[in-house]
Amino acid sequence: MAHSRPSTIAIDGPAASGKTTLGGLLAERLGYLFFDTGVLYRAITWAAQGRGLNSSDEAALAALAAELKIDLEVPAVSDGRLYTVRVDGRDVTWEIRRAEVDREVSIVSAYPQVRRALLERQRAIAAGGRVVMAGRDIGTVVLPEAGLKIYLDASPEERARRRYLELRARGESADYQEILARMRQRDELDREREAAPLRPAPDAIVLFTDGLSIEETFAKVWALVENWRQRRGKIEVEEPG
Ligand code: CDP
Repeated sequence: MAHSRPSTIAIDGPAASGKTTLGGLLAERLGYLFFDTGVLYRAITWAAQGRGLNSSDEAALAALAAELKIDLEVPAVSDGRLYTVRVDGRDVTWEIRRAEVDREVSIVSAYPQVRRALLERQRAIAAGGRVVMAGRDIGTVVLPEAGLKIYLDASPEERARRRYLELRARGESADYQEILARMRQRDELDREREAAPLRPAPDAIVLFTDGLSIEETFAKVWALVENWRQRRGKIEVEEPG
């Protein structure tokens, strides 16, 4: 018998908490679309840098966010990518992960006008259902009605270690201390901003993944998906009115 499953799943959490890996696996298992919203903010930051826009120019950045052509595609290259990101047709999958983008993306993403310009795009992608969406504010702002909300967390040291290993695996030079410092800074900006700050939605399930392998994390999340109907029933009974 087919299980009843949430048609939209939100995965939020700080940098390198495993949202992309987990979201990709979950979407694959469910036959859903995986959409990593961090790509939008990264693509805008990357394009702004290429066009020489100042990171303090909110109006120009918001205009760019409204018009920039950003596409996520099924990859035709097998170099460890989960998807191919194109900006105006150009493959920028790895360029948007570089340190220069990391340094400015949380400044760009804190602007309310930029976030507003991206909100409808994100909702349109999720409108048909059967989607796993990852980011910082998916459960709180973009898809407050998501059927299942996961907030993935891990200590900054564990997350920096994971990011360090990822960079090394791609053959890029990486300095652990620098990654840790930069990540803490980005997390602080993401948590402290006024527009859609990073925080778990009240109805999110928080998973702390230090010491858990990706398989173990996936198993926990899969159990949540499988028990979804049952758990919702329970919550409804426990919260009368
Ligand atoms: O991959 P990583 O976890 O390092 O970051 P990301 O998910 O690619 O997101 C990059 C940045 O975009 C974050 O640090 C946030 O500043 C911003 N972002 C956001 O504000 N809202 C989202 N829904 C997703 C990302």
